[in-house]
Amino acid sequence: MTDTKKSPQGEWSSHSAFIMAATGSAVGLGNIWKFPYITGENGGGAFVLVYLLCVALIGIPIMMSETLMGRRGRHNPVTTMESLTAEAKADEHWHYLGWMGIIAGILILSYYSVIAGWASAYVLKAFTGSFFDADAAAVKQLFADFIASPVQLAFWHTAFMLATMWIVKQGVNNGLEKALRWLMPSLFVLLILLVGYAMTTPSYFQGLHFLFTPDFSKLTGNSILTAMGQAFFSLGIGMGAVMVYGAYLPKKISITETVVVVSIADTVVALLSGIIIFPIVFSNGLQPDSGPGLIFETLPIAFGSMIGGWLFGILFFVMLVLAALSSSVALIEPAVAWLIETRGFNREKASLYAGSVTWLIGFASIFSFNSWSGFKIFGQTLFELLDYVTANLMLPIGGFAIAMFAGRIMVRGHSEQELDLPNPLTYQIWQLLIKYLAPAAVFLVFLDVVGVL
Ligand code: PHE
Repeated sequence: MTDTKKSPQGEWSSHSAFIMAATGSAVGLGNIWKFPYITGENGGGAFVLVYLLCVALIGIPIMMSETLMGRRGRHNPVTTMESLTAEAKADEHWHYLGWMGIIAGILILSYYSVIAGWASAYVLKAFTGSFFDADAAAVKQLFADFIASPVQLAFWHTAFMLATMWIVKQGVNNGLEKALRWLMPSLFVLLILLVGYAMTTPSYFQGLHFLFTPDFSKLTGNSILTAMGQAFFSLGIGMGAVMVYGAYLPKKISITETVVVVSIADTVVALLSGIIIFPIVFSNGLQPDSGPGLIFETLPIAFGSMIGGWLFGILFFVMLVLAALSSSVALIEPAVAWLIETRGFNREKASLYAGSVTWLIGFASIFSFNSWSGFKIFGQTLFELLDYVTANLMLPIGGFAIAMFAGRIMVRGHSEQELDLPNPLTYQIWQLLIKYLAPAAVFLVFLDVVGVL
């Protein structure tokens, strides 16, 4: 009786609790830190357009598939894939999809936590008035001095991982659910206020133009892959986090509605960050393609000069850390759920183990910004390589496999029943996207990047 099957880890207490948790997983550093800097590196408008298309046509249908597979399997990604494969009488190798998700989650969190550590350090910098009246050069120097210190980065990375482990230890629907209820709306209000500031800068329209006017000559195969990878990363799909969250989802909740709401919220937050950052970049004569430090080199200028900037600076970085925390718990949950369900660990031990491994791998990224910055593989530092392999390769490959499984392997009646769409036509559109368009798009982008197209 699948209808009464529940996850061993419990369930979300309500529909809004799930929406909050899923939005918490989606909205994070990916929107506020990563989206602006990769948009800057990839030339703006055309990249943003590809990103939006990827979210709508590939991201949403795959997120629906991942959620429904999780809800049907009701376990960690590996066990879920095992039970779905058995149910569909398919090849048992499919459970490697679950494994890839668990590994991708740990690898992403290893550098995600380092960057979240930067945001945590900036809470303190904001508080002690480091940005006060600082110009672009001073802010840039502040950031350069900070990332040059492995000890400081290690300290904040450790603090962030400890916080993640502490929350994960409490379980999915304790603590986190309550915090998210006020976090997401407040973050949104703060972003709107910052858009207000951006509007007062001299280069507001230049910023908007950069973000929304596509110049297709700037698109390369690799930038299309990056846009697609970002759609996966930002929605948090392709690695099993949505699968585990789906496993905690009660039967009666509409998957489609939830996925659409979460995707819109996620996209709006990313676009708002772009609308805030680029006017500041151009108004201060900065370069949009300065890389992962972009928000740390721009926003402090705003906080240092605007009225109430001291308070806004503190609030902004506090919320960024909290938004990162609600994503980090999603990144580690597949591994934790696997340890609990198949190794008999309790939550505390599982988060300690998974967290420690992640923490250790994090040092590769820490040193990428200082002592090992000259150490490159394929021309990339370890941080860049980890980001490229996970976001641009593992997530799209995971997403491709999820689309294949939900569209072609799973028994049709099962996906129909899980999605419970209002009419047969919407189900057919979903089928079309998941069977043909999404896998073909991922495949073509890959062919383009390896130079076959
Ligand atoms: N979506 C999160 C962000 O944008 C990161 C994330 C990726 C979370 C994958 C879960 C799974 O910050």
